[in-house]
Amino acid sequence: MNTNRTLAILKPDCVRRALSGSVLQQIENAGFKVCALHMVQLSRERAEGFYAVHRERPFFNDLIDFMTSGPCIPMVLEKPNAVEAFRTLIGATDPQDADEGTIRKRFASSKAENIVHGSDSPENAHIEIAYFFGDHGSIPVDIS
Ligand code: CMP
Repeated sequence: MNTNRTLAILKPDCVRRALSGSVLQQIENAGFKVCALHMVQLSRERAEGFYAVHRERPFFNDLIDFMTSGPCIPMVLEKPNAVEAFRTLIGATDPQDADEGTIRKRFASSKAENIVHGSDSPENAHIEIAYFFGDHGSIPVDIS
């Protein structure tokens, strides 16, 4: 299991509010290398597949509405212990609970529209990277 990589998504609110550059700058300033990145408009089917573990949650439909409301930017990030390091950088799911200086504290407007996604375990990072970058020729580069 490669513990040096995680999957991030700059969500539709981030793109819509023209914050992609600022958020990416903070990610790079924190020492993450961008190994792959592209902008996509998710279909409902693609978004539902990505968030399948949340299918029974009451917020699932709102989450899918939001994630399909405009383009988003999935990316593969590399840094030692990437999953934990990135979750520390982005802060808690609800920006009201996020630490000062974290990406969600700085930029997110609500728990639903929280700017960025980060994988929650190395196992899920592996699955999520494959979901967006596995099978269509967009292979994360080796930047080391
Ligand atoms: P993310 O890290 O992308 O993973 C699941 C997402 O569901 C989460 O970020 C939030 O944006 C969203 N989410 C979690 N809890 C709620 C909630 N109570 N209401 C709306 N959206 C939520």
